[in-house]
Amino acid sequence: MDQPRAVLFDAYGTLFDVYSVGLLAEQLFPGQGQALSVLWRDKQIEYTRLVTTSNDGAHYQPFWELTRAGLRYACKRLGLQLTAEREQQLMNEYRHLSAFPENREVLQELRAREVTTGILSNGDPQMLGVAVRSAGLEGLLDHVLSVDTVRKYKTHPDAYRLGTQATKKTAGQILFVSCNAWDALGATWFGYRTLWVNRYQLPFEELGPQPTRIGTTLRDVLAFFDSQYQEL
Ligand code: LAC
Repeated sequence: MDQPRAVLFDAYGTLFDVYSVGLLAEQLFPGQGQALSVLWRDKQIEYTRLVTTSNDGAHYQPFWELTRAGLRYACKRLGLQLTAEREQQLMNEYRHLSAFPENREVLQELRAREVTTGILSNGDPQMLGVAVRSAGLEGLLDHVLSVDTVRKYKTHPDAYRLGTQATKKTAGQILFVSCNAWDALGATWFGYRTLWVNRYQLPFEELGPQPTRIGTTLRDVLAFFDSQYQEL
């Protein structure tokens, strides 16, 4: 197998740490920070599927709005009092999520090897713009692709197709990297080569094919570019 010609990264959970909001959540709601950040994330993703699969996408809302709706739901479900001020604080934290520390180095290394790089994310363009700038990744990405253009969230094929269209490469020439198992599976089904970065020692989905490879940090992307690289 040839080395990939482009690498596309998922954003939330992969380049940016969605659970970093747990720290502020814990300050605001002692003892509930972890539960809130997990439920918030799950609900946000559930809403992306709900609006993509219902009524041909008629209920689409940008990721930022679904993120807010997910937060409101999660607080109600956990019996937490979400004042307007707390909501603003948590949403603001979400806008400026921490980036995982190895990101820059991996992107720099790909740059040095002249590999096309990009983000392919559910995030809307404004969210992605702020997150990329906050993390200092601007000069290291050739493409920042938001599903907002097609108003369908991953794992809809129209969302994944943005990557082949923008890079003008076939899915088989592209490595798609995600820490979200469902996203790695959706991308594998679409035809991308995939790396699932299993940061939290979770099982892979019990459905469909395995990703091309499984790693534990973003640095595992670089193994695809070793001269001895063999596809498993
Ligand atoms: C994204 C979500 C899935 O960035 O994390 O696309």
